[in-house]
Amino acid sequence: MSRTYKVIFFGLLLLSFFLLPNATFSAVPLEVLSPPEKIVASLPEIDLIFKVNTARDAEINIKVNGKLLAGDKSQTGNFHYTLGLKPGLNTIVISNYEEGGIRYTKELQVFYRTRDQAAENIQPFRVFYPHGISRKIHCSDCHDSRASGPDKFTMNRRIDIVCYKCHEDFTKKAYLHGPLGAGECNVCHNPHGSDRPALLNDEESTLCFICHEKKLSEVHFRKMKERTGGASDRNCVACHDPHASSKLFQLK
Ligand code: HEC
Ligand code: HEC
Ligand code: HEC
Ligand code: HEC
Ligand code: HEC
Repeated sequence: MSRTYKVIFFGLLLLSFFLLPNATFSAVPLEVLSPPEKIVASLPEIDLIFKVNTARDAEINIKVNGKLLAGDKSQTGNFHYTLGLKPGLNTIVISNYEEGGIRYTKELQVFYRTRDQAAENIQPFRVFYPHGISRKIHCSDCHDSRASGPDKFTMNRRIDIVCYKCHEDFTKKAYLHGPLGAGECNVCHNPHGSDRPALLNDEESTLCFICHEKKLSEVHFRKMKERTGGASDRNCVACHDPHASSKLFQLK
């Protein structure tokens, strides 16, 4: 390699380190809404829900256990497939070919645990909780079923109004927590299912740190522990109601 080429090569390499994370940050080319990456499912079917944000006419392939699904060429937009699972480990690969030849792939592993395998230890896989196990909830319970094309499933209403059709209306309480005032239940919950209890997107306290200072929490824990007479839980939700409260400071 000549010197100029070397400079260009390493220059581009360096540049790519700066550009790539940003590129994925600003418009995630492939965003899987459900299921999470390594889960244990207890039903033989699972809803695969994802968004594609690339150039139109991108080609999408979905492989389940190495087999290509039919009818899988489409463009930018929202996608939904109901996939059948075999008992044990299932591998789902979504790949998206952009015009520039750049390929984004996402691999998901789903362990379908039948009743006979109930005792099997499958760390680090986490149990998947669908939304409403006892009562099947349909996409159309929350999404406008008349919409079609790439915009299918776009949420064009305030999210909380949809949730309050079936859940307690938190706005009736005296003090409503910030994000609920904006109707944004999905900051903390994934309405499509989650690998954590209560359909949470992350650990309870980690969710609080999206908006509240993590640095201050140690001091806060220490001070409040004394004040509240020794409630030793470091979890924010031990003392605060994440939704609404009749007391100041969202206290329980
Ligand atoms: C309990 C309510 C609920 C159910 C049931 C539900 N969704 Fe959603 N869905 C939402 C909410 C709320 C959002 C918005 C999330 C956001 O804006 O980040 C959303 C977002 C989406 C998106 C992304 C839309 C966009 O434009 O960004 C897709 C795709 C989607 N849902 C598909 C589905 C499919 C397919 C089903 C059924 C298998 C389903 N949803 C069931 C509540 C629901
Ligand atoms: C069509 C009715 C319906 C709608 C709409 C709905 N839910 Fe649910 N939701 C349910 C049912 C049923 C359950 C399961 C309750 C149970 O099994 O006890 C549930 C469970 C939950 C749970 C878990 C409760 C737990 O204790 O684990 C959360 C969190 C939740 N829903 C949030 C939401 C959010 C956020 C929305 C709006 C985006 C929403 N729901 C919209 C019916 C609904
Ligand atoms: C700031 C984060 C956050 C937001 C925003 C949020 N939740 Fe929750 N939600 C939680 C946490 C944390 C739990 C678990 C509660 C616990 O463990 O005490 C929970 C639990 C729930 C449950 C289970 C039953 C219960 O009350 O404990 C339902 C239902 C629910 N949320 C619905 C909603 C709805 C509907 C919205 C929007 C109107 C919403 N949540 C917004 C954090 C949040
Ligand atoms: C999406 C951003 C967001 C998230 C996530 C979030 N909060 Fe908040 N929180 C707010 C906003 C906005 C306010 C209102 C601030 C104000 O009124 O000064 C607030 C206020 C509060 C208050 C003070 C209420 C008062 O009266 O001053 C408490 C306590 C609180 N949040 C606890 C939590 C806990 C616990 C969690 C995690 C379960 C959490 N928050 C997650 C945005 C958030
Ligand atoms: C042991 C109980 C306890 C725990 C755990 C706790 N808090 Fe608090 N928090 C309180 C009390 C009590 C107040 C009221 C403060 C006051 O009276 O000055 C408060 C006040 C607040 C406020 C409003 C006033 C301020 O200082 O800005 C916010 C925001 C807050 N807490 C966030 C959090 C977050 C985030 C967590 C988790 C990292 C958390 N709290 C954990 C008891 C607790």
